[in-house]
Amino acid sequence: MSKSAPIHGQWSSPMVFVLASIGSAVGLGNLWKFPYLAGENGGGAFVLIYLLCIAVVGIPIMVSEVLIGRRGRLSPINSLALLAKQAGGSRLWRLVGGSGIAAGLIILSFYSVMGGWALAYVVRTASGLFSGVTAKGALSIFNYLVTDPERLLAWHTLFMLVTTLVVARGVRSGLEQAVRVLVPALFILLLVVVSYNLNSGYFMQSLHFLFFPDFQDITAGGVLQAMGHAFFTLSLGVGAMMVYGSYLPSGASIPRLVLAVTLVDTLIAMLAGLAIFPLVFANGLEPTSGPGLIFTTLPIAFGHLPGGAYVGTLFFLLLVLVALTSAISLMEPMVAWLVESLKLPRSRSAALSGFLVWLLGLVSLMSFSRWAFEFQFAGQLKHDGWFDILDILTSAIMLPAGGLAVVIFVGWVMPKQSLIEELGGRAGITFRIWYVTIRYLTPAAVSAVFLYMMGVI
Ligand code: TRP
Repeated sequence: MSKSAPIHGQWSSPMVFVLASIGSAVGLGNLWKFPYLAGENGGGAFVLIYLLCIAVVGIPIMVSEVLIGRRGRLSPINSLALLAKQAGGSRLWRLVGGSGIAAGLIILSFYSVMGGWALAYVVRTASGLFSGVTAKGALSIFNYLVTDPERLLAWHTLFMLVTTLVVARGVRSGLEQAVRVLVPALFILLLVVVSYNLNSGYFMQSLHFLFFPDFQDITAGGVLQAMGHAFFTLSLGVGAMMVYGSYLPSGASIPRLVLAVTLVDTLIAMLAGLAIFPLVFANGLEPTSGPGLIFTTLPIAFGHLPGGAYVGTLFFLLLVLVALTSAISLMEPMVAWLVESLKLPRSRSAALSGFLVWLLGLVSLMSFSRWAFEFQFAGQLKHDGWFDILDILTSAIMLPAGGLAVVIFVGWVMPKQSLIEELGGRAGITFRIWYVTIRYLTPAAVSAVFLYMMGVI
């Protein structure tokens, strides 16, 4: 087991690691992105492929990432470099860490814009704007917001400022307590909306939509996005889980911790689906309406529930906060690397990264108004120009490619004995299943999806 302690500090217990990782995993991906991707891709078939990818690709890769982090005890780039050197592998493995950092910054650039939407909705719900709102009204309130770059700029700036400040102070202060409260509260609010939906008469239709796969609905692009979303929602492929793993005390059982994180993340996403789709069908909305889906559906429920303004305000506030606990994990790999390799102080590293991300965010910010354009992607029409391009480039391409490199590194470059050591000292049945999976099944699955997308198979 690795004896060294990381220079950036350590979680005070394995439980803190689980909470921080849940904080990273649960976010806009579960509540905002999963529902609209499922809607755009026809529901059931997409959800099934997504769940399969969580099991066959996501869990094994998360174990691998945490393992690399804890064994290397450094930022992703330097952990990969160190472990590659120990195993006599190529120096080029560090590039996997570098491309992960880049992907993390790009993702954060649009993540912050959507975090800004959520912030704006806290104010809009609190002011009672949605009381008694119709589907049409909710839609026009949303369009009014996203086509106004000045307003979006203010919210995006605020979101990035807070993210940068939290990262500058160090990830650990307060994160644990925050997640302990946030995730259960979110769970309860989602249950409130789901139970409101139970009587709407559209609940069964939604179950059918989400859980009965019809493979005619799905395109090559849909398969790729389902896999990409498994990476996105579990925070894989950018090194975030490696960094969090590098702060994990020796001795904690990695597979068990990873399963807990995955379970909570998946549960929240499924609940989000059941909160949103009954509203879509009950109000005659389009499941394919894209990134605005959550912002045009949930306010209808909040506008009609007794006390809905309170429930709604609290909901969007929680959405902002869980987005924040994810955003810090997107920035952490870059900051940890700057501190380690360029010897910059933590605050300067955070400020530099935050500014870069803020600037790049302007591209996504404009994608819903002046820079909007449509394009065709693997059988799908995308409407939001550069935002969609950056999203596909990262979630569907860079994250799976990064994950593929990680399992090849762990499965074929690192010595088996060091993996056994890191995973508890015995090559028991769990270890053997995981080892075969990362050596053969995971690489085959990721490659197959890539080849299918390129039209080769
Ligand atoms: N998983 C987060 C969500 O679902 C987003 C996120 C945080 C992320 N860190 C990441 C995505 C690292 C990819 C890689 O909202």
